[in-house]
Amino acid sequence: MTQSISHVIGRVMLSCAVVAWVAVVATHPALVAQQRPVPATGAVMPQYDADRNLKLPADYRQWILVGSSLGLSYSEGGAGHQMFNTTLMEPTAYRHFVETGQFREGTMLALILQGIGTNALPARQGQFATDVHMIEMAVKDSGRVPEGWAYYGFGGPMMGGYRTAAAPQAKASCYDCHVKHAARDNVFTQFYGLLNEAAPRAK
Ligand code: HEC
Repeated sequence: MTQSISHVIGRVMLSCAVVAWVAVVATHPALVAQQRPVPATGAVMPQYDADRNLKLPADYRQWILVGSSLGLSYSEGGAGHQMFNTTLMEPTAYRHFVETGQFREGTMLALILQGIGTNALPARQGQFATDVHMIEMAVKDSGRVPEGWAYYGFGGPMMGGYRTAAAPQAKASCYDCHVKHAARDNVFTQFYGLLNEAAPRAK
């Protein structure tokens, strides 16, 4: 009898301890973070220096690939210096675009221009992207320029090195062609098959 009572008490105490342990574990911030699915991270926004020049984001090489092209020429009759162009998009803006079909305020896209390589063994044919020549960026921020989208050149190894910050380019140099010829909100989505496939709502 005594034994069974202490046994019952022991069980009650044990279950209390278990409840208390569960309560502690379930509310401990580090453990809660592990248990829940990864929360949607906050929107990443463009950063400017004291002169309101756009800072080159440190991690743009880790952005999401949305398009690549070879030798697209912007100028008429211009068989100039051909390059591989790769377009990357900042991941939080990318997720927003995939979900809504909209380029939200703060959207950042990077265009990486690389040289063309051929005849590198064991390849006997074909072309591949070689050294980076330069980086350009397109940023949607109507707090920075009234027309919304601003365009920036950050130079690159073939242009005397990367700039860490850049001022918006003149509208006539970049914006005018983008606003006139790009398929969707200044962005050349007509050349971004991968992005279009990921974002059915953009259609
Ligand atoms: C005559 C037209 C034209 C002009 C001028 C132009 N671009 Fe573009 N831009 C394009 C095309 C076409 C693409 C499509 C991607 C490609 O080239 O592979 C593009 C793509 C881009 C992208 C990738 C994001 C997007 O909007 O699709 C960036 C960033 C960019 N250009 C920056 C610039 C900058 C900076 C300038 C000015 C120095 C500039 N562009 C001037 C035609 C133009």
